[in-house]
Amino acid sequence: MSARALLSMTGDLGVERVAYTELAGRIRVLIADGRIAVGTRLPSERELAVVAGRSRTTIVATYQALRDSGHLVSRRGSGSLASLPHLADVSKRPGRVVDFAGSVPPPVDGLRELIAETTADLPDITTFPGFDLLGNDALREAIADRYTTRGLPTSPDQIIVTTGGQHAIALTAQTLIHRSDTALVESPTYPHAYEAFQRAGARMVATPVTTDGWDIPHLLATIQHTRPTAAYLIPDFHNPTGASMDPQDRIRVARAARAAGTALVIDEAPVDLNIDRPWDDGPFARHAARDAGPDGSGVITLGSLSKSVWSGLRIGWIRADEAVIRRLVQARPAGDLGTPPIEQLIGERVVRRLDDLVIGRRKFLREHRAVLTESLNRRLPQWTTPWPAGGLSMWVQLNRPASSALASICRARGMSLIAGPKFSIDGSLERYLRLPFTSPIADLDAGVQLIADAWEQLDVDAPAPRDHAPTAT
Ligand SMILES: Cc1ncc(COP(=O)(O)O)c(C=O)c1O
Repeated sequence: MSARALLSMTGDLGVERVAYTELAGRIRVLIADGRIAVGTRLPSERELAVVAGRSRTTIVATYQALRDSGHLVSRRGSGSLASLPHLADVSKRPGRVVDFAGSVPPPVDGLRELIAETTADLPDITTFPGFDLLGNDALREAIADRYTTRGLPTSPDQIIVTTGGQHAIALTAQTLIHRSDTALVESPTYPHAYEAFQRAGARMVATPVTTDGWDIPHLLATIQHTRPTAAYLIPDFHNPTGASMDPQDRIRVARAARAAGTALVIDEAPVDLNIDRPWDDGPFARHAARDAGPDGSGVITLGSLSKSVWSGLRIGWIRADEAVIRRLVQARPAGDLGTPPIEQLIGERVVRRLDDLVIGRRKFLREHRAVLTESLNRRLPQWTTPWPAGGLSMWVQLNRPASSALASICRARGMSLIAGPKFSIDGSLERYLRLPFTSPIADLDAGVQLIADAWEQLDVDAPAPRDHAPTAT
């Protein structure tokens, strides 16, 4: 970080003649709030003194004060790095890491029996080709039938089986995007999705989503004005907000995308995680299929068994127009030569019985959502805790923008936690935190307690509200 960048956050010290204790205090608040990320290299004392127009002695004293309070560590060859006092405090580390980072539920009830049943067919597995870029016919048929039953007539030729949903996203991005094409994503969104589009060379644009849903005028205008090559959306139990897009809005979005020549990439990985949403609109692509011309609907639908059944299966898929499936098959070998046949064998049985299997998953989510909500309301009433109708996590709003600092402290104390900015493409969303409710019940309250203790510690570090926005004038 340059001296100029630091001073733009602390205020103009030369004019204000602030004391070194005050300057150290301002920098501490910036680190505690996450606006200076832990690990950032601060400017050298000499550079800061020159640019700030202050004596070297003042700046040396400032840095020493930060070192004394644990907000700065000096490493030979690396300079002075922002830190937090608690990162060195290992005495509070519990024996086991509480996982609030991944939203990974346990295998669904009934899966073990289904796997056991499948073993009878295992000897026949060698009749499948080893390298199969499209996927096992029986599984593709089961997936196609499920779309048809959900209201979107589908043939197996419109399905390619992938090695999990993430592979489906990456393969789609790599196939659709040419360098410097524009890709639209939601903010917040599932981080590994925007990473896949970025890696494919896309210029990213974002449209906001909150726990209340999409800013539809913004989404429609962004599609119209930027004409993105692809728009990646999670319209059902959106990760991380839990929001679902209104059926009427789906129609408007599908029309806008068609008019702009944008391929809609609809990630349905969470679609079966309905806890108590009172409606079901069927697959999003239904709306585009109605208006589809000879070139197809332009909607690419991604699916996965990870969230609804078990992430260890690594079964995902893509439903698209046949011409797109052909392009995907051509692009696939650069990254992957086919999904393992044994998993596909299990996958076919799972897809055929998905409706029964997800009953247990929904019960699990209902119970876990209640426990996490109660715990958050009791221990952190100053936060805004939403009540998602489905999905695996809560997008909690903090009472001040310090998500990164909080996550740093929690990690040092033995909890893995992902701060809000990870879910945005531009490092914003410091006021939010994603809390999955997939951990065991006992961990949920213990985890919230750990978070609440860390939050209290942050308040001690940054108590004075006037410190939050230091200005030069
Ligand atoms: C929205 C969404 N899509 C896709 C995935 C990838 O899932 P998998 O690769 O395990 O199928 C995830 C995982 O968290 C997700 O949240």
